[in-house]
Amino acid sequence: MKVLIPGSFDPPTNGHIDVINRCSKIFNNVLVGVVINPSKKSLFSKEDRKLMLEEIFKKNSNVEIDSFEGLLVDFAEQKKVNAIVKGLRAITDFDYEFQMAQLNSTLASFETIFIPSSPEYGYLSSSMVKEIYSYGGDVSSLVPKEVLNRMKNER
Ligand code: PNS
Repeated sequence: MKVLIPGSFDPPTNGHIDVINRCSKIFNNVLVGVVINPSKKSLFSKEDRKLMLEEIFKKNSNVEIDSFEGLLVDFAEQKKVNAIVKGLRAITDFDYEFQMAQLNSTLASFETIFIPSSPEYGYLSSSMVKEIYSYGGDVSSLVPKEVLNRMKNER
């Protein structure tokens, strides 16, 4: 079974990495799809986000990284995935994710599978990482070293 994990990944956090790693143990193939979410302020370009994820998962042979523009379901169709996987942190994610899952299943015949975040990452989001970083705070426990190195270069 091949699944697609879509997201902004701006930047990828330890929470994202955990979800992708856990999925790579459950599913035969995991495709990570990086997309720009216009409702969020960008720190990294789509290309940089893809490069960081490629670096992080270079030793994981069943994880592939790609990026897309436009509708998620169109990309899922093009890549012939069996389902979409989303990580859920808390009830606050549920409302929005449930709405998207139902809309996506209306647009095309893709199931969305939800996987709970590990408890230690339940509080973590890219937006929080960006905020802490913008005030000069220490994000070294929140993102992998590949991301931390690039964040340092951005300063
Ligand atoms: O990491 P994010 O920003 O929470 O991910 C949200 C994302 C990118 C998965 C969502 O915005 C998305 O699917 N964007 C692609 C455009 C699309 O298909 N929109 C309709 C969703 S019902």
